[in-house]
Amino acid sequence: MDPIPSTTTAPEEQTPSLASGRSISSLARIKELLTEVGNYAWEDSIEIISNISWTPSLPDNFQEMYGYSLKPYLPVIMFGNNNPGIQSSSPGSIQVLLDTPDRGTGYIDDYRGALVQGYRQYLQALTNWTNTQFSGPAVLAGKRVVSNEMGAVEFKAYQYPIPELLWSVNRAVAGGVNQMVFHGQSYTGDYYATTWPGYTAFSYLFSELYSNKQPAWEHCFADAVNYIARIQYTQQTGRLRTDVAVYNKQSATNTSFAPVYADAYVQNGVLAPQGPGHRAFVIPSTSNLTLAATEKLQQYADAGLPIILSGRDPGYYASGDGSGKDAVEKGIASLKKLPNVYSVPAGEVANQLSALGIRPQIQIQTNGTWYTTWREDVRTGVDYAFIFSDINASVGKIDIASTKIPYLLNPWTGEGSLLLEYQQDENSTVIPLTLAGNQTVVIAFREQANNTLLHATQLPSTVLGYSYSENEGFVLHVSAGPFDKPSQVSDGRTISNLSSAPAPSFVLSTWTLTAEHWEAPSNLSDAATIAVKHNTTHQLTSPLVSWTDIPGLANASGVGYYTTTMTWPPTSAGAADGAYLIFTSKILHAVKVYINDQLLPPVDYAAAPVKADIGKYLKTGDNRILVVVPTTMWNYLRSILDELQNAGLPPLLTVVGDVPGQTENGLLGRVEVVPYVNLKVT
Ligand SMILES: *[C@@H]1O[C@H](CO)[C@@H](O)[C@H](O)[C@H]1NC(C)=O
Ligand SMILES: *[C@@H]1O[C@H](CO)[C@@H](O)[C@H](O)[C@H]1NC(C)=O
Ligand SMILES: *[C@@H]1O[C@H](CO)[C@@H](O)[C@H](O)[C@H]1NC(C)=O
Ligand SMILES: *[C@@H]1O[C@H](CO)[C@@H](O)[C@H](O)[C@H]1NC(C)=O
Ligand SMILES: *[C@@H]1O[C@H](CO)[C@@H](O)[C@H](O)[C@H]1NC(C)=O
Ligand SMILES: *[C@@H]1O[C@H](CO)[C@@H](O)[C@H](O)[C@H]1NC(C)=O
Ligand SMILES: *[C@@H]1O[C@H](CO)[C@@H](O)[C@H](O)[C@H]1NC(C)=O
Ligand SMILES: *[C@@H]1O[C@H](CO)[C@@H](O)[C@H](O)[C@H]1NC(C)=O
Ligand SMILES: *[C@@H]1O[C@H](CO)[C@@H](O)[C@H](O)[C@H]1NC(C)=O
Ligand SMILES: *[C@@H]1O[C@H](CO)[C@@H](O)[C@H](O)[C@H]1NC(C)=O
Ligand SMILES: *[C@@H]1O[C@H](CO)[C@@H](O)[C@H](O)[C@H]1NC(C)=O
Ligand SMILES: *[C@@H]1O[C@H](CO)[C@@H](O)[C@H](O)[C@H]1NC(C)=O
Repeated sequence: MDPIPSTTTAPEEQTPSLASGRSISSLARIKELLTEVGNYAWEDSIEIISNISWTPSLPDNFQEMYGYSLKPYLPVIMFGNNNPGIQSSSPGSIQVLLDTPDRGTGYIDDYRGALVQGYRQYLQALTNWTNTQFSGPAVLAGKRVVSNEMGAVEFKAYQYPIPELLWSVNRAVAGGVNQMVFHGQSYTGDYYATTWPGYTAFSYLFSELYSNKQPAWEHCFADAVNYIARIQYTQQTGRLRTDVAVYNKQSATNTSFAPVYADAYVQNGVLAPQGPGHRAFVIPSTSNLTLAATEKLQQYADAGLPIILSGRDPGYYASGDGSGKDAVEKGIASLKKLPNVYSVPAGEVANQLSALGIRPQIQIQTNGTWYTTWREDVRTGVDYAFIFSDINASVGKIDIASTKIPYLLNPWTGEGSLLLEYQQDENSTVIPLTLAGNQTVVIAFREQANNTLLHATQLPSTVLGYSYSENEGFVLHVSAGPFDKPSQVSDGRTISNLSSAPAPSFVLSTWTLTAEHWEAPSNLSDAATIAVKHNTTHQLTSPLVSWTDIPGLANASGVGYYTTTMTWPPTSAGAADGAYLIFTSKILHAVKVYINDQLLPPVDYAAAPVKADIGKYLKTGDNRILVVVPTTMWNYLRSILDELQNAGLPPLLTVVGDVPGQTENGLLGRVEVVPYVNLKVT
């Protein structure tokens, strides 16, 4: 992205170096370097709405596309159309309206259409050069990868927590994106008139500067990146299938019926059967149709695709080329006469789809907001469901139109295991889910020779987890407390209680925090220095509080090493075959857990509570628990902000508005140990 106001020196052009420290001596070496790392070419953010640049060929392109000259209509397009981003609040002092029925909108639409065409040519030239494909409306056009710039958030430089990055990633995935390109670090070395922590693109305004100058770099960043990589892997496998297509033509785009869609055809009533496989086409009343669109819809409907007009009839997409309103209206009227074209009142689309027997691949029932994707890999016969609970905690179930066996894929560890709580009939699989806000699950569905695998159809909430192995079979981890509902097994058995009661949970109440402070070098111009580090020690009791509330750490950034010990097995009455370590507060940035110096697999940062099965790491007697918690650099940088310089200027962040406040750092809340008893189901 290039959101930088013009008051600072342009960063990328003046920094002809790579983070590795190698410098590019001439343009000629770009090709050489690209061949070393090449695989993907990526185009920096488009920002059409913030900067519209004319090219000398615009008037000719326009003439060719629309058959008339743009020049007489320049007065019409000058209002609000030179830079819609900047002009949205001040579109200009003069607006010219024509005395035509559409007041000149058609000329504006055509102008924007010509800009889109120009942008396509630009992408085509890059595509030709790299010999790769750019995404755009990639899925319908059969492209494997849709990429997106990720993690550039205003006022979040040096304070962009990993859970926020993951939230953006998960939302993008839900929208069909399957390759993330991080906003990154341009250069970490010494730089002209620049203080530690080094050259900061966009002058401390935008996140994030990923390098070893971030305390999370060494400790946890790889876990988050691996999570993203694994999600991407599932989302680049097979084909994305989406249930219905929704018509959306807006003046700044021309996607719906462009040449990339040339292969979109209807077969057996399905649009693009080799691609997303839309089983119906929805036209919202707020959309506007071109004549070409009505003709294409007519073809699709003739070929058997159900088309649903929602609310009143769609409008007319004005063009200055004279493709008339009357013709579009006539087109819509004749479309509506076809047997598989339905006009329904607003809000009735779902009912109409269900009346047509079109059921979603993933049907959702939840009190929250879940976004899903469904991919089918015909090569391996494995299908992938991705479910993301946006913002809020939620409960519910998914009803999948598949009778394959579900496996839970853990994107944090790469582990795949049988999912053991679901109900299946001859047509579908229903899986109950309880998700924390921003939590995801990835479930793979695989054909199994024996489709009658023993599994649970219902589990009480005291079951905190389960395992499955050839030897042990299916084992539930049951914690203390009454069963709020019985355990039901697919072979018809019901298990209502345990023979021995699990030991109650307990809180790890006293902690020693060794805080590693990351600070500036005494010579602030030593920008290449990672940080000057020193440790302080703090005795803490539960519940744990933010560094901002710990004397001596208010302005500190760095890495927290939290240690405590626990005795195993628990001294209280009750049985215990293992235990979960539970964090009652959310992970602010990142976390790593060691038991007796053994590193645990990464925990799901978005879970609530965050939990780890520590059963196999515990030994009889004293056990040492270490929780490593890196912070962002913000609280420390904020305390020295007035000493910082970026290419000869103070951070722009200090100029454009209020400097953001301190952030909470460290490990918060209580850490509990919840013993469990193994309950063998087989
Ligand atoms: C738009 O982009 C051009 C070319 O990069 C640049 O010269 C111009 O300053 C930009 N205008 C705005 C308003 O950002
Ligand atoms: C939209 O795309 C089609 C197909 O490329 C083209 O014929 C048409 O001129 C375009 N319309 C606009 C408004 O860009
Ligand atoms: C891209 O390559 C094709 C095939 O060689 C050529 O016809 C087309 O003009 C090129 N487009 C651009 C924008 O360079
Ligand atoms: C459709 O056309 C109407 C009337 O010109 C306009 O107000 C509206 O914004 C258009 N809708 C879209 C999605 O472009
Ligand atoms: C959904 O219900 C669960 C359980 O009652 C509750 O914890 C959660 O907050 C609810 N979510 C929403 C968005 O209402
Ligand atoms: C989350 O919950 C809040 C409060 O109930 C609600 O206003 C908001 O719309 C919910 N957000 C989502 C994405 O469901
Ligand atoms: C499965 O689907 C078929 C065909 O739609 C239907 O006849 C049957 O009743 C369904 N079975 C169940 C258990 O819903
Ligand atoms: C989910 O992420 C968004 C954006 O970072 C945040 O506002 C929200 O509080 C998060 N929800 C939870 C439960 O942490
Ligand atoms: C399939 O699994 C069920 C339940 O585990 C078992 O009883 C049955 O013998 C298995 N069938 C075959 C053919 O392996
Ligand atoms: C401070 O560091 C810079 C960059 O490494 C160096 O050029 C300068 O001589 C140093 N200043 C002092 C007083 O050591
Ligand atoms: C601070 O303590 C941690 C944990 O004991 C240790 O790994 C680290 O090396 C120490 N850092 C410094 C600068 O002494
Ligand atoms: C933290 O830094 C701020 C900003 O420089 C300063 O006002 C405050 O006194 C510092 N707090 C402590 C405890 O040093």
